[in-house]
Amino acid sequence: MTHSAEYWNRRYTHGDIGWTLAPHPLAVAELALVSPDPAAGPAAPGPRALDLGAGAGRHTLWLAHHGWRVTAVDFSAAALQRTRRQAAAEEVEVTTVLADLASYEPPQDTFGLALITYVHIEPPQRAALLARAAKALTRGGRLVIVGHHLDNLGTGLEGPSDPERMYTPERLRAELPDLRIERAARVPHTVTTETGEREAYATVIRASRPANTG
Ligand SMILES: C[S@@+](CC[C@H](N)C(=O)[O-])C[C@H]1O[C@@H](n2cnc3c(N)ncnc32)[C@H](O)[C@@H]1O
Repeated sequence: MTHSAEYWNRRYTHGDIGWTLAPHPLAVAELALVSPDPAAGPAAPGPRALDLGAGAGRHTLWLAHHGWRVTAVDFSAAALQRTRRQAAAEEVEVTTVLADLASYEPPQDTFGLALITYVHIEPPQRAALLARAAKALTRGGRLVIVGHHLDNLGTGLEGPSDPERMYTPERLRAELPDLRIERAARVPHTVTTETGEREAYATVIRASRPANTG
């Protein structure tokens, strides 16, 4: 079973939120590839990005600093409040939307980028969310996903206990039939835990909406 908004509100208000602070290096590596070229000068206005399950906004803020007009969506009001507070402190503008990803309908044909990091909802809802995220992209727009690979299951690392909610490149590829898959990979990386550094695996997806299809 997935956690409720109340669970996440408690964590963002009182709990261990260590992971929320620094952008994930694997996400940043993908986002850097698809972000506006700063050498081209400031785009006015910048392209739009959608951070789905944005949490406390570590990637929302990174994107806002890299030329995107970002909409952060989460069902945790506490998370979005942290995002807005940090955006104000860093003097960047972001839009926040309080919504459940199980039913959230982003506007179609709107975003040059949609991002999903470490959001592990149940498979039927995940597939529906990915379909809506794909439709929200402009033609040529990118979807980037980073999250726990199934191989992290049972290793004691933070993450879902339900194997169905874990990502594999094959699973996510199958749930993105309308996008062109540019990268679908199982990537080893190091995470810092209370007991030291641990090896973990992430699933990383980068995909684009073809220019010539619906
Ligand atoms: C592990 S955190 C990851 C947050 C952020 N993407 C990051 O990488 O820092 C998972 C986030 O997904 C949000 N979330 C989980 N299920 C959701 C749902 N059904 N609707 C909206 N947000 C959800 C939680 O509130 C939480 O902020």
